[in-house]
Amino acid sequence: MKRRISASILNADLLRLGEEVQRAKQAGVDMLHFDVMDGCFVPNISFGMPVLKAVSDNSDLFMDVHLMIQNPLRYVPDFVRDGADGITFHLECGDDSFQTIEKIHGLGCKAGISLKPATPARAVLPFLDEVENILIMTVEPGFGGQSYLHEMNEKIRAVREMIGRRNCTLEVDGGINPDTIQEAAAAGADLFVAGSYLFRSEDIHAAVRSLAEGGSH
Ligand code: DX5
Ligand code: ZN
Repeated sequence: MKRRISASILNADLLRLGEEVQRAKQAGVDMLHFDVMDGCFVPNISFGMPVLKAVSDNSDLFMDVHLMIQNPLRYVPDFVRDGADGITFHLECGDDSFQTIEKIHGLGCKAGISLKPATPARAVLPFLDEVENILIMTVEPGFGGQSYLHEMNEKIRAVREMIGRRNCTLEVDGGINPDTIQEAAAAGADLFVAGSYLFRSEDIHAAVRSLAEGGSH
C-alpha cells in the first residue's frame, strides 16, 4: 500500500512558516497537517483559522485539519472557509458526531474521526460508512515530539479490518519516524502524520524518502 505523508506544522519553524511549507512540498509530502488545540480538549493551545488561511492561500497542498477542540461543530464553517480540505475531529469531543460529519460534508469537505489512545477501536463502528478518514492517535494528543505508543498497533490492525474494502484512509498521528512507520504500516495504516521528525531533520528530502520508502519492500 502506498504510504502517504501529512506534514504536521506544529513543530515547524513558525517564524518561517512559508519557507517550511515550501520545503515540505518540494520534499514530496502529500498533505499539510494542522493541529488545532483549544486548551480545553487538550492541555495545550496551538493555532487556528488565521494560520490555516495564511498557508492555504499560498499552497495547493491538501489541508488536513485535525481539531483537538471541544465543540468542533461550531467552528467547522470557519475552517472550511479558511481552506480546510479535510476536517478530522475527536469522537470524545462531546458534540454529536453524526451532525458534525454532516456539517463537514455539507460544506464540501472530507470528514474524519479521531480516537485518543484510551478509546477502543469499536468506537468507529457506527461511522464506517460515513467518513473518508479515521485517525488513530499514537500519542496522547496535545504535543509534538512524543514517543510512539506501540500498544496502538493492535488498534490500527482492528480498525483496518473494520474498514475492509471501504474507501477510507487510516491515518496515524504521533511519534512517527522511519522505525515506527514500519509498525504502523504493517498494522494497516496508509496515511502518516509526521511533525518533529520531518521539520527537525537537516535534510527534509531524505527524511520524507525514508518515511515513504524505508523498508516497505
Ligand atoms: C499531537 C498532534 C500531532 C503532532 C505530531 O497532538 O496531533 O499531529 O504534531 O508530531 P510528532 O510527529 O512530533 O509526534
Ligand atoms: Zn495531529
